[in-house]
Amino acid sequence: MQGCDGSILLNSTAAGAAEKDAPPNLTLRGFDLIDRVKGLVEQACPGVVSCADVLALAARDAVAAIGGPSWRVPTGRRDGTVSTMQEAVRELPSPSMTFPQLVALFAGKGLDVRDLVWLSGAHTIGIAHCSSFADRLYSYPSAGNGTGTVPPLDAAYAANLRQRKCRMGGRDTTVEMDPGSFLTFDLGYYHTVLKHRALFRSDAALVTDPAARADIAGVVSSPPEVFFQVFARSMARLGAVQVKTGSQGEIRKHCAVVNS
Ligand code: HEM
Repeated sequence: MQGCDGSILLNSTAAGAAEKDAPPNLTLRGFDLIDRVKGLVEQACPGVVSCADVLALAARDAVAAIGGPSWRVPTGRRDGTVSTMQEAVRELPSPSMTFPQLVALFAGKGLDVRDLVWLSGAHTIGIAHCSSFADRLYSYPSAGNGTGTVPPLDAAYAANLRQRKCRMGGRDTTVEMDPGSFLTFDLGYYHTVLKHRALFRSDAALVTDPAARADIAGVVSSPPEVFFQVFARSMARLGAVQVKTGSQGEIRKHCAVVNS
């Protein structure tokens, strides 16, 4: 959480729990794949390519592989040597955050409102656990009301989720965030947002801001390439957050551990 420095890849040590083991990160997968890629790169070219670069390049290529855009990823990031659970808990956005809270959090990393709106479009892929949005199914209206109240989930969709996927006690089941095309990078997420079917309050929060709502409406009524372009631009900005260069950090030999 000290920037784009591969600290998410580090394992916890006797000295303390790492970001990887912070509750919001427990559903992250694919660490073994990154470790394998890094191993191959080390064989070919030892000590040159950081884990932070491998991760930034893999994120780009994963998006392109499922039909999304590609973008230029400048390399040369160096790897961080610090990874703490506490920092991740403090700095990661929560799915119950309001629009102003999300904007402030992104601003802390030099990212603006549009970055927030377009990067949230990544929720066109993947799944969410019922526990991440159960409060919207079972106790709406609830905490987080008052300033920044978000529209409730579409009533029919919420009823469907309660009956089929997210029964009380079944909080560990998962739901596609963009049902029907959760493995394709497309405009589906923004359609769900506008239909009040996006799962998190943080998704619903985007339409509580008139300018953000207008941006989303504009992108949804344009060819997907328009979204692709703004998403790619924001991903490039995300990949440049607090990058370590020069003599900062190190080039890790193994992504899960700092060099000895
Ligand atoms: C705006 C603030 C954001 C919040 C509050 C947020 C929150 C979440 C939550 C709670 C989940 C589901 C975890 C689970 O229940 O398993 C999730 C999944 C996901 N998020 Fe976000 N997220 C945000 C921004 C982003 C950004 C910027 C990206 C990438 C550019 C992103 C990409 C993803 C992906 C790909 C998944 C699916 C993971 C899977 O399939 O397991 N999110 N997010």
